[in-house]
Amino acid sequence: MKNDIEKVLFTEEEIAAAVERIGNEISEEYRGKNPMLIGILRGASVFMSDLMRKITIPCEIDFISVSSYGNQTESTGQLILRQDISSDPKGRDIILIDDILDSGMTIYKIKGHLLQQGANSVSVAVILDKPDRRKVDLTPEYIGLETPNYFVVGYGLDYQEKYRNLPYIGVLKPELYS
Ligand code: IMP
Ligand code: MG
Repeated sequence: MKNDIEKVLFTEEEIAAAVERIGNEISEEYRGKNPMLIGILRGASVFMSDLMRKITIPCEIDFISVSSYGNQTESTGQLILRQDISSDPKGRDIILIDDILDSGMTIYKIKGHLLQQGANSVSVAVILDKPDRRKVDLTPEYIGLETPNYFVVGYGLDYQEKYRNLPYIGVLKPELYS
């Protein structure tokens, strides 16, 4: 796997520092609110499990699974709900968690879905932000690291379902993108 990486963009240490900072911010801002962390499967799994252990106030967790249809490295606006959360979002203060905010379509749609079901508030936490690619008006409340416009893998992010288990974030060698 390591040999497939052209360049490491963010090391394990840089990621850990960003996760800790977000955990501290959430612990301050959600004190007394019992927030519900909702991870978007499967990309959010690594960030979610690290982040929740850096949150020092009581919180609950749940997951949602969606798929967006598009080509290999880009998602379209078409969002299909594969598995909804199993808790009731009504009246809850929700923190939506994902690996990356790219066009923003995925999170924009899920946020609307949760608010429609009566969530009290929905904020967004991502480990990576690609602000240049945004197609909707959405600014995440919690951003780990800002990344240039490359397709990246590792720390939950995949290319064709591989590389999610790399502990750092990097770019693949160009010949590997088919
Ligand atoms: P959006 O709806 O365009 O914001 O797309 C978000 C989803 O696209 C993320 O949850 C990722 O699964 C995927 N994605 C976007 N950019 C990348 C990338 O650079 N590497 C891997 N997956 C990505
Ligand atoms: Mg994903």
